[in-house]
Amino acid sequence: MPVARRPLVAGNWKMNGLRHSGAELLAMIEGCGAPLAEKVDLLICPPATLLAQFAAEAAGSPIAVGGQDCHKKASGAHTGDVSAEMLADAGARFVIVGHSERRSDHQESDETVRAKAQAAWRTGLTAIVCVGETQAQREAGEALAVVAAQVRGSVPDGASADTLVVAYEPVWAIGSGLVPTVEDVEEMHGEIRRVLSERAGAEAARVRILYGGSVKPENCTALLNAADVDGALVGGASLKAGDFLAIARAYL
Ligand code: 13P
Repeated sequence: MPVARRPLVAGNWKMNGLRHSGAELLAMIEGCGAPLAEKVDLLICPPATLLAQFAAEAAGSPIAVGGQDCHKKASGAHTGDVSAEMLADAGARFVIVGHSERRSDHQESDETVRAKAQAAWRTGLTAIVCVGETQAQREAGEALAVVAAQVRGSVPDGASADTLVVAYEPVWAIGSGLVPTVEDVEEMHGEIRRVLSERAGAEAARVRILYGGSVKPENCTALLNAADVDGALVGGASLKAGDFLAIARAYL
C-alpha cells in the first residue's frame, strides 16, 4: 500500500524582505485557514534578519518558519555565519541546506551540505536538502546520475521523515520561467526516493521530496500532483501571499 505523505509547500524568500514584509506574512496567515491548513504544511524561510519577527507573527498559526542556511558549528569565530542553534532560538523549525545558490556562490560541497544537515538535526531542525542538475548536465544526459550522487553525498545517515525533506531544484529552472516536464520530474523524484531507500530503508517512502524551480500559480497543479512530488520549494512566487497560497491550493 502506498504511504500517504502530507504535502509541504515552502517559500524561500532568498535575499528579499524587510521588516515591513511582515504584512505579507500576516496576509498569508489570514488566507490559510481550513481547509488548506488541514491538508498542507506551510513554511516560509525569510532572511535570517526577519526570522524572530516572523516566528513571533506566525506563532499559533499553521505557517512554520525556517532558515535558508546554517553553519555546521554551534558557535565560534565565524564572522557573518549563523548556526542552526541560532535559527532554532529565533523560532525556526526547518532549515534549507545546499541550495544551488549556496553551492555556486559559496562553493559548498556535498560534504559541507551534509555537515550542515547534521547541524540542523543536532538542534532539532528539519533539514531541507537541495539537489539539482545544471542545464549542461541535463543536456549531457547526466541529470539522474548527478542528482543521485548529490543525494548520496549530502544526506547524512539516519534520516527520517521527521528530520529530512529533499528538494529537487534543477538549476536551469530556478528563476528562469522554465520547468521540466512532469515525466522528467517523476523520473527524478523516483530516482531520489530509490537512492534514499539505499540509506534509510523503508523510511525513504515517508520522506517528502519537493519540486522547486519557477513554480507559479499557473503551472503548479500538474507539477505538484505528479507521482512522488510531495510539495514545492517556491522562490519568487512565495513573496506574495496571493501567489503562495494559490500554489498551496494545488492540493485542495
Ligand atoms: P524560483 O521559484 O524563483 O524559480 O526559485 C526556486 C528556488 O530556488 C527555491 O529555493
